Amino acid sequence: MTKYDIALIPGDGIGPEVIAEGVKVIDAASEKFSFEIEWTEYPIGADHYLETGELISEETLKEIGGMHSIYLGALGDPRCEPGVLEKGILLNMRFYYDQFVNLRPIKLLPGVWGPLKDKTPEDIDFVVVRENTEDFYVGIGNHVHEGKSKQQLEVFRSLFNIKFGLDIEMEGSEAAYQIGVLTRKGSERVIRYAFELAKKRGDERVTAVDKANVLSHVYNFWRTIVEDVSASYPRIAHEFNFVDAITMWLVKNPEWYQTVVTPNMFGDIITDLGAMLQGGLGLAPGGNINPEGVSMFEPIHGSAPKYKGMNRVNPLATIWSGALMLDEIGEEKASQAIISSIQDVLEDGVVKTIDLGGVNTCSDMGDAVASKLK
Ligand code: IPM
Ligand code: MN
Repeated sequence: MTKYDIALIPGDGIGPEVIAEGVKVIDAASEKFSFEIEWTEYPIGADHYLETGELISEETLKEIGGMHSIYLGALGDPRCEPGVLEKGILLNMRFYYDQFVNLRPIKLLPGVWGPLKDKTPEDIDFVVVRENTEDFYVGIGNHVHEGKSKQQLEVFRSLFNIKFGLDIEMEGSEAAYQIGVLTRKGSERVIRYAFELAKKRGDERVTAVDKANVLSHVYNFWRTIVEDVSASYPRIAHEFNFVDAITMWLVKNPEWYQTVVTPNMFGDIITDLGAMLQGGLGLAPGGNINPEGVSMFEPIHGSAPKYKGMNRVNPLATIWSGALMLDEIGEEKASQAIISSIQDVLEDGVVKTIDLGGVNTCSDMGDAVASKLK
């Protein structure tokens, strides 16, 4: 029997509740499809940080690096400074494991209420391939005061190193700046991933997102790379959408979209919009993927601290993310079965969490999907 080692990071807020339902469903799937999962739980998150001052140790990162995958609930806690856990743990892991694809399917499932009048599950069914390691997320920048200063900014990655030695002279005000970096290799690999996915899905077109009309250095470069990569896929058309325009078109004509490839920050923004199109954050799954390394699966939603411990949120985004994880490690049938079970439960409409207009708990929903699966 094939055995998979999975790192389990329940995390903060509602993370532990939703992840428990995900584990329940995956364990049911492993029994049915005859494989074994060995879960190793890591108590990483706000409590650990507040007790020890440690976010995630190099030793833990290395240990998890030897596993098949990572299943994450959510990170973020109001007791910590904004961004400390997000940057110190979540982004740290995305970069450390070079998970350069953030895969976010946007699919309105049958039986789910969506906010767009007249749009059906047939109309809302696309996938966003978000670049996940570069752009404004490389995290370099600073705050400068009036006068002269020197600053050395660096990004060290397995794919590239870049250093900026800046001589700054500021007059008239204090300021802050942030540098976004796109590399050719980093863009090429994610764009290629998107075209390969489009091919696998049988899509006619790939839509690439940018803001080349204003942030022309980075995003004209992005466009050039899209053009270069697209040359190897003569049967798949491609088009460019400005990020502001795509937020409008996604609402007006979601049916146009098939595979969407986007730089990191715009991907962050448009996938929250996408989550709403598919019925809300309770239903939006995601995966941080390194096709040759260790990937990490998590719902798009955050830790929702106000609902912590109440057993009331919808675990389907996490369960669906678990299905994406099984697909990635090679258990495609189990993955499909979980997605079908989610669909069946939603279509039955008997068990519904509060976000879906029902009265059921988080664990009721996990039980419903697990028993459908069995
Ligand atoms: C997401 C989140 C993260 C991001 C934050 C928590 C760092 O919003 O996964 O979409 O910006 O990528
Ligand atoms: Mn986000």
